[in-house]
Amino acid sequence: MAPAAPKLQVRGLGQRFDDIQALRAVDLHVAEGEFVAVVGPSGCGKTTLLHILAGLQQPAAGEVLVDGAADRQRLGAVGLMPQRDCLMPWRTVLDNVTVGLELAGMSRAAARDRARGELDRFGLAGFEDRWPTALSSGMRQRAALLRTFLAGREVLLLDEPLGALDALTRQRMQSWLLELAAAERKTVLLVTHDVDEAVFLADRVYVLSERPGTVVLEARVDLPRPRDPGVVVTPEFAAVKARLLAPLMAEGRSAEAAR
Ligand SMILES: Nc1ncnc2c1ncn2[C@@H]1O[C@H](COP(=O)(O)OP(=O)(O)OP(=O)(O)O)[C@@H](O)[C@H]1O
Ligand SMILES: [Mg+2]
Repeated sequence: MAPAAPKLQVRGLGQRFDDIQALRAVDLHVAEGEFVAVVGPSGCGKTTLLHILAGLQQPAAGEVLVDGAADRQRLGAVGLMPQRDCLMPWRTVLDNVTVGLELAGMSRAAARDRARGELDRFGLAGFEDRWPTALSSGMRQRAALLRTFLAGREVLLLDEPLGALDALTRQRMQSWLLELAAAERKTVLLVTHDVDEAVFLADRVYVLSERPGTVVLEARVDLPRPRDPGVVVTPEFAAVKARLLAPLMAEGRSAEAAR
């Protein structure tokens, strides 16, 4: 029997904005149920990549395959958590997280019932009737994640989902996100500029170069699951991290030299 096609795959992907070449010849894939991270420097095209995968932009070159097929409507298969949380200030927390369900045609009452059932797991219980401005930044990000989860897509694209957090909250949220992804058995592609976060969370990591972003390294992370926060001080963790950092550091040095 032929092996199953990856859930999500891109081949030869390129993107250009006027005179800026954002992405060049990007090849990557995510298997069903896999947690893959993409790391790369600021401006290398990570958000652009996710926007193309989500079907919000058409690439200048290359193709995106879902379950091995190019022509499938991607918008129905993937859910995107955007880099900024994009909570609507005029809607309460509950009415923000139900947006995807309502857009999919669910009645407001049924959408609210579904969301209420998840508030506790997302650490938002008791805050459902507040405005987004009354939330801490960690809560805002959990609300944005809940909105993406509730939309119920098979593949989750997460754009720096733990970006604007202090180190302690970020580390707690990483453990929480791991438990959530494992419980939901989702296929996840997460973008980050934080190598530690990529290694802690992912089964596999792709490193992108400076713009135009292209894959310069792919590494498997064979650390056992479930992962304890203490794993970050083990020699095994340090070894994977060193492999991923090497191409990023080399690029940084050549950029310095060119200045
Ligand atoms: N809609 C657009 N129009 C013009 N240029 C764009 C557009 N979107 C992105 N770019 C450019 O493409 C490049 C890649 O941007 P992108 O936002 O994908 O980077 P990123 O890796 O997500 O960066 P960061 O880590 O800072 O979020 C940048 O030079 C950016 O200015
Ligand atoms: Mg970005």
